[in-house]
Amino acid sequence: MMQRSYIAGCGSYLPKRCVTNDELSETVDTTDEWIVSRTGIKSRHIAADGELTSDLAYEAAIRALEHSNTDPDDIDLVIVATTTPDQTFPATATKVQARLKMKNGAAFDIQAVCSGFIYALSVADNFVRAGQAKTVLVIGAETFSRILDWEDRSTCVLFGDGAGAVVVKADPENSDGIGANARGILSTHLHSDGKHADLLYVDGGPSSTQTTGHVRMVGKEVFRHAVINLAAVVDEALNANGLERSDLDWLVPHQANKRILDSTARKLGLSEDRVVITVDRHANTSAASIPLALDEAVKDGRIQAGQLILLEAMGGGLTWGASLIRW
Ligand code: UT7
Repeated sequence: MMQRSYIAGCGSYLPKRCVTNDELSETVDTTDEWIVSRTGIKSRHIAADGELTSDLAYEAAIRALEHSNTDPDDIDLVIVATTTPDQTFPATATKVQARLKMKNGAAFDIQAVCSGFIYALSVADNFVRAGQAKTVLVIGAETFSRILDWEDRSTCVLFGDGAGAVVVKADPENSDGIGANARGILSTHLHSDGKHADLLYVDGGPSSTQTTGHVRMVGKEVFRHAVINLAAVVDEALNANGLERSDLDWLVPHQANKRILDSTARKLGLSEDRVVITVDRHANTSAASIPLALDEAVKDGRIQAGQLILLEAMGGGLTWGASLIRW
């Protein structure tokens, strides 16, 4: 029997500095009105000089470890989903491992841009199901501000920095076949379509330019693919578990654009008060956005034991995915 995994706790961290749209409009040719009406974003957090992705990841991790009552020495695996690693190598996850003073385990990064957290969660869940890990620290962490072209108003207003983490554990009482009403990660669903790589990418890298590069996006096209792919993958997740849209308690989506969230919620027949929204205050924090939103809704008591939670994301690659969790 394969063992089911569950999320034992979560944590998150935002850099101190909060930048409003009005503040941005002092240096970028934009307005609060344009940003709010096209995206729903009102402000974002930006990391301080010298504050690195691994610093944000570590802060989120220690909160998640505390919330789940986990000792760092019990972690088998640290997975960091990030597009903005401290360095090209080593993996940012190994830096977090060192800061946690872990004596055991393995650590690696995952690159799936804005879908990174869903990808990392899927890897964690599969390691647990296969019996190769019992406790996995899964982190989404980004300093996206470092790869933005601050002269390109069509991208630089959209993103922010932050980190979120969850601790995934094997559930000794629940193994596969127990059904969708028992606690745990019910399923994860991953997709990518590399032929659309030119819609959202960074124009640099170690092998191509020996520079870091900046984010480039054909926003309208990405938007179109997001609406279509997300609608398909959320139905795929529900069908895989024999569940209906009406069974959902919470949608915890990747936070790219309020209009994309609204579209997915509408298709699911979910009212806005069943969608966890942080895009207004965090903007798009890429791989960090889902665990940031999840942590907020768990800590403020919205998400309760026994509820059905749907996570979904789409990002560069293109990559997309979803996960259903019985909390
Ligand atoms: O997380 C990964 C996935 N990413 C996404 O899902 C992002 C998906 N895309 C989007 O969210 C939207 O496409 C954007 C928010 C990026 C853009 O919204 P849009 O409604 O598609 O606008 P647009 O790109 O068609 O631009 C409309 C106009 C253009 O002017 P013209 O050509 O119509 O005169 C832009 O130059 O808005 C202009 N514009 C701006 N104006 C003020 C673009 N950026 C700005 C800006 N401030 N920051």
